[in-house]
Amino acid sequence: MTTSAAYPDSLGRLSTMARAELFQGPTLLESMPNLTKVCGGAQLYIKRDDCIPLAFGGNKVRQLEFYLGEAAAQKADTVLITGAVQSNFVRLAAAGARKLGMDCHIQLEERVAKSDPYYRQSGNVLLDRLLGATLHSYPDGEDEAGADRELHAIAERLTAEGRRPFIIPLAPGHKPYGALGYVVAAHELLAQIAEQGLPVSEVVVASGSGATHAGLLFGLRALGSPMTVTGVCVRRDAEQQYPRIWDRCAEIADLIEIDNPVQDGDVIVTDAYLAPGYGKNGEASLDAIMLCAQSEALLLDPTYTAKAMAGFLDSARRSKSSDALVFMHTGGLPAIFAYQNDLSDALDARAGS
Ligand SMILES: Cc1ncc(COP(=O)(O)O)c(C=O)c1O
Repeated sequence: MTTSAAYPDSLGRLSTMARAELFQGPTLLESMPNLTKVCGGAQLYIKRDDCIPLAFGGNKVRQLEFYLGEAAAQKADTVLITGAVQSNFVRLAAAGARKLGMDCHIQLEERVAKSDPYYRQSGNVLLDRLLGATLHSYPDGEDEAGADRELHAIAERLTAEGRRPFIIPLAPGHKPYGALGYVVAAHELLAQIAEQGLPVSEVVVASGSGATHAGLLFGLRALGSPMTVTGVCVRRDAEQQYPRIWDRCAEIADLIEIDNPVQDGDVIVTDAYLAPGYGKNGEASLDAIMLCAQSEALLLDPTYTAKAMAGFLDSARRSKSSDALVFMHTGGLPAIFAYQNDLSDALDARAGS
């Protein structure tokens, strides 16, 4: 199940990188006429990576094609990954591993102070268990290096038992295989924009680990597109996120062996929608969830796409009608059920007001 595709020379060694095929693209680029009317400016479009078929889909499927391609190339039989309790990445790593005939060990970190049973047991946690992953827990949600060290300790135990583990690390500084999935997505998006003849000036995306944001920005610039890429911070503030995106772009350039096409001024991050913090919603992101559901039947997850959409809506309200804007929907939908209490409260509050 490995795949190869031919990309332009400006994407360096991308065509030669190990890649496991986990879905068939392109994902749809759809117009959002109702939301366009509400915002009153540019034509609004959405890139439906949330509809990737693997186990409820999302951006991490694209990233895993390269991580698991590398795992398969190394003849691994077990994948190890760490993330928040309601991580979409770990759910999709378990799904991708299953597709490739591998096992998956998942380490769940305490990043969000939520103890209700929906958060602890439903959504992604339920799916991790259905996919047959082995679950471990890690008490700290902010210690990326420590979480990675613990993964290595689990990998050592597995190796002693005769397994061949492959670790997907969390902390920055490792080869950015995941970001390559969004270099591919940039190529795909440009082809769709050209085919549909759209005057797209900006794409808005959630910026967490930064692999999606950096890959997309890098791919667009390497392919000659000057489109603005706005990364909406979902995990840390703009001051911390900005250098992460820069570093990730430099690492992509090293990995595919081309000069870094990303220039000063290309990296745009906003933390205006981050409060009250990772995995928690403020009014703007709750409003975005309600507006998208009730205008376009478009579902957003509370942790990532709700905040990114709040940023997108502000861009849309400021935009000109001659422009087109794209929202990159990165998925995360199982978490809606993990946040049932918060979302029900928000619905009740709006019904009562
Ligand atoms: C649904 C969803 N959207 C966006 C992101 C952020 O992507 P990245 O970590 O590549 O910045 C994540 C990360 O887990 C996610 O699960």
